[in-house]
Amino acid sequence: MTTDRQVARAEAGAPAAAASSATGSSGVREPAALIGGGAPAPARSHDLFGADYLHFYRPILTPERTAREVDFLQRVLGLCPEDRVLDLCCGHGRHAIALAARGYRVTGVDLSAPAVALARRAARAAGVADRIRFVRGDMRRPPVADGPYHAVVNLFSSFGYFDDAANAELLRRLFAALRPGGRLLLDLRNREHWVRHPHPVHCREIGSDLFVDFSEFDPLVGRLAVRRLFVRAGRRREVRLSFRLYAYTELRDLLAAIGFSDLQVWGGFGEPYSCDAERMIVAARRPLSAPRADAARSAPPPARRRARAVLTHPDSRG
Ligand SMILES: C[S@@+](CC[C@H](N)C(=O)[O-])C[C@H]1O[C@@H](n2cnc3c(N)ncnc32)[C@H](O)[C@@H]1O
Repeated sequence: MTTDRQVARAEAGAPAAAASSATGSSGVREPAALIGGGAPAPARSHDLFGADYLHFYRPILTPERTAREVDFLQRVLGLCPEDRVLDLCCGHGRHAIALAARGYRVTGVDLSAPAVALARRAARAAGVADRIRFVRGDMRRPPVADGPYHAVVNLFSSFGYFDDAANAELLRRLFAALRPGGRLLLDLRNREHWVRHPHPVHCREIGSDLFVDFSEFDPLVGRLAVRRLFVRAGRRREVRLSFRLYAYTELRDLLAAIGFSDLQVWGGFGEPYSCDAERMIVAARRPLSAPRADAARSAPPPARRRARAVLTHPDSRG
């Protein structure tokens, strides 16, 4: 078992294949999060990333940590003041608000109503509400009204929730949502790290409250199945989720087939990528002379359209 004291890192969870969907009280269609075989009930985003998740994760997602991550985003994305950024799966808005405070116009999308409510309050408190818009919605329909975007970011393991076809379709939609020359950045768990250093039980404690992830990786489908237990004020709640862990080469070929170019990869916010890196941060560009999104659907296979891949070192710039 690993505990917070032993594990200095934060493990982000993510929901699974959109095998079915349900309509929440707000009327937003929610993808159900299931793991393979007979999960008791479909979990919705408020089950997975609502108040319980925020209770355990907000304390470790400190402003200092977020500021370091946003420093990296600024270096890599090469943004100019007033550029438009989409923070897809923005959670409680920590990156979106920091980006708005640095002069960008930001749209944040998230399915979790408690997270979006917190994000809106925090934006007002930070005095950036006029440069930021939070939308409660499904990432599979990225808001086009504020685009096209100079950059789309998806941070802290918020990609891979759906089946392979739907994950690929989401990347195509993000390509279409970007301006020519715009950049996509995905911050994911590193599959190779998991295989080398699996931690099937991960535990967080806050006073007498407890959060435990029991995780199992299935190499046949490349998915991590997680049984997540929350115990808060003596109340016990369990949710199940699963998400795809992509090998770098799989993601590289997927992005290349869609039409992205100039791939870069890091093993953390500015660290070199390796099998032992906990994160896999991938950046890619929509080329200036991009094919139309619908043309990208019929892009030639990856072997003939391989994106240029660059293994990036800590001090490299995008
Ligand atoms: C691990 S959290 C990361 C949040 C944020 N990016 C951060 O760094 O703190 C994953 C987020 O994805 C959101 N999410 C999950 N499924 C979603 C979907 N289908 N559409 C939009 N957001 C979704 C969750 O509500 C949650 O806030």
